[in-house]
Amino acid sequence: MMSRTLIIIVTTLVGAGWAAAEEAVTMETCAVCHDEVAAAFASGAHGRAMQRADPAVLAGSCVACHGPAAEHVDDPNTENIVRRPGQDACLSCHPGLQGLTDTATAAHVRNAVACGDCHGSGHQALATDHLLLEPSHELCAGCHASVAGSFRMPFAHRDGTRPFECSSCHSVHGLGRLGSLTMIGSGGACLDCHADKTGPFVYPHPPQQLDGCVTCHAPHGSPNPRLLTRNRVAALCIECHTNVPRFHDLSSARYQSCQTCHAAVHGSNRDPALFEE
Ligand code: HEC
Ligand code: HEC
Ligand code: HEC
Ligand code: HEC
Ligand code: HEC
Ligand code: HEC
Ligand code: HEC
Ligand code: HEC
Ligand code: HEC
Ligand code: HEC
Repeated sequence: MMSRTLIIIVTTLVGAGWAAAEEAVTMETCAVCHDEVAAAFASGAHGRAMQRADPAVLAGSCVACHGPAAEHVDDPNTENIVRRPGQDACLSCHPGLQGLTDTATAAHVRNAVACGDCHGSGHQALATDHLLLEPSHELCAGCHASVAGSFRMPFAHRDGTRPFECSSCHSVHGLGRLGSLTMIGSGGACLDCHADKTGPFVYPHPPQQLDGCVTCHAPHGSPNPRLLTRNRVAALCIECHTNVPRFHDLSSARYQSCQTCHAAVHGSNRDPALFEE
């Protein structure tokens, strides 16, 4: 699907160049003078990905990013060529990632975070997947130091061998089911790995439906067990349940641990008082 769209777009671009210059400017033309740059690009990750999709895409790529360039070929200098192609160039071949400019990811758009802040163009030799300028976690950590730091708190998602990827929960391009970067009402992202906690339940516990898992859990890390937002479970529950039935003796240790009786804090299929799942 993707590559068909790409072919159409590149053919159109190359076609337009042909009409203007009477001669299609392709990579071969550029390579006459920029042989090392062109060879490195073609053998790099982006060049190889383009070649796999369609050799014509690779041939038209220099022009797709650096502009029509016919004038530059006749009279080469740095004034008549796009020296640092921007996000528009990327979107001309990757229209499906237009989502990045949706309001869903407004925070990145507002702050002018663009393709080139995360990805190389293909000129650089990068030791990462997806042309990322740095491995995924470090990339995000570079601009989000405090969030990344939370993953070192006593309780956090860690898989032991490598950092837990930000993109396990956040949809980096603002596309797909998860939609926004913020994930307010976060059941969606958590559902991927914790389906048993998300229901639907016969007897749901409302806060879960209302504001999602982050009502009670700190997704990036917490000083409290189970990533809870409060250091005692009772303190968390009493924030909303100010009027627990009177037989609850809150001064006794037994009643401080609400979940020993109300074990189904996430919702129950059998018991409206959430005693068992
Ligand atoms: C006839 C030789 C020639 C051809 C063909 C040619 N260039 Fe150039 N290009 C040059 C020269 C000379 C410069 C200026 C270098 C300088 O001043 O540092 C230049 C500069 C550039 C720059 C700016 C480099 C910088 O350091 O900022 C880019 C980008 C570029 N060319 C891309 C292309 C692309 C893409 C093509 C094919 C569409 C192409 N060139 C075709 C000779 C050529
Ligand atoms: C996906 C977009 C893209 C494609 C395709 C592309 N370039 Fe570039 N090019 C850039 C960007 C962005 C820069 C600025 C610095 C960087 O990212 O390396 C650049 C920089 C350059 C430079 C300046 C010197 C340098 O290496 O930094 C030259 C020359 C150049 N490109 C030529 C080419 C030629 C020839 C092709 C075709 C083989 C090509 N580019 C394909 C995006 C692209
Ligand atoms: C001339 C068309 C063209 C342009 C312009 C273009 N790309 Fe691509 N790109 C492709 C094709 C074709 C593929 C391989 C098929 C695919 O993954 O969609 C690809 C693949 C990629 C990949 C995946 C590589 C991998 O190894 O997984 C990334 C990331 C990417 N492009 C980023 C960019 C960025 C960032 C820009 C702008 C600087 C850009 N592209 C501009 C055609 C293009
Ligand atoms: C905030 C950082 C960031 C920005 C901005 C960004 N990307 Fe990505 N991109 C990533 C990461 C991280 C991945 C790796 C996939 C994953 O972990 O989900 C990726 C993967 C990709 C891929 C390969 C996988 C796929 O989804 O097809 C392409 C192509 C791509 N990006 C293109 C782009 C283009 C084009 C832009 C600009 C419109 C862009 N990206 C902007 C971080 C970013
Ligand atoms: C070039 C810097 C930069 C990079 C790289 C970057 N971000 Fe951001 N991001 C920002 C800025 C600036 C904001 C807006 C201010 C803020 O919330 O910190 C932001 C906001 C966000 C938000 C909040 C969205 C909202 O609507 O409130 C999320 C989530 C986010 N980024 C996730 C990521 C992830 C995941 C990555 C790595 C794939 C990443 N960012 C990489 C700069 C960056
Ligand atoms: C386990 C899932 C998960 C992972 C992994 C994750 N996040 Fe988040 N993130 C969330 C949720 C859920 C929210 C919304 C929090 C809220 O609404 O209170 C959020 C909010 C954010 C925000 C905006 C609010 C804030 O706390 O500043 C940023 C920025 C952010 N995340 C960046 C990142 C970065 C960077 C990484 C990787 C280092 C990452 N996230 C990893 C789930 C996750
Ligand atoms: C990519 C899979 C994945 C996603 C997405 C995910 N988790 Fe987890 N979660 C795990 C794994 C694996 C563990 C157990 C190992 C660990 O702690 O790293 C875990 C553990 C937990 C724990 C228990 C920690 C403990 O001390 O027992 C809580 C609470 C939790 N996750 C909440 C969430 C919430 C809330 C979200 C959504 C914001 C979420 N998770 C998203 C995989 C995931
Ligand atoms: C009303 C508060 C509340 C909400 C909302 C909530 N949790 Fe919990 N969660 C708890 C409490 C309290 C515990 C600790 C129970 C215990 O210690 O036995 C817990 C424990 C967990 C655990 C670890 C224990 C286990 O059984 O594996 C996971 C994983 C978890 N929650 C995921 C989620 C996810 C995913 C969501 C959103 C769908 C969510 N929680 C929403 C209060 C909540
Ligand atoms: C964000 C607010 C909030 C938090 C935190 C919260 N609850 Fe609830 N809970 C509710 C709401 C709203 C209901 C629906 C009934 C009501 O209005 O009292 C409910 C219902 C219940 C019920 C079913 C009984 C009934 O009245 O229908 C039990 C039992 C319960 N919660 C226990 C707990 C426990 C134990 C905790 C701590 C792990 C907790 N709740 C945390 C808001 C909350
Ligand atoms: C020793 C067991 C036990 C502990 C510990 C306990 N409860 Fe209960 N709770 C009960 C019983 C029994 C009921 C009555 C259930 C019924 O009416 O069916 C009840 C009822 C409730 C109800 C009202 C349910 C309804 O149906 O009206 C709420 C809300 C509640 N408890 C919250 C809490 C909170 C918050 C804590 C921790 C501070 C807690 N409970 C600790 C046993 C316990």
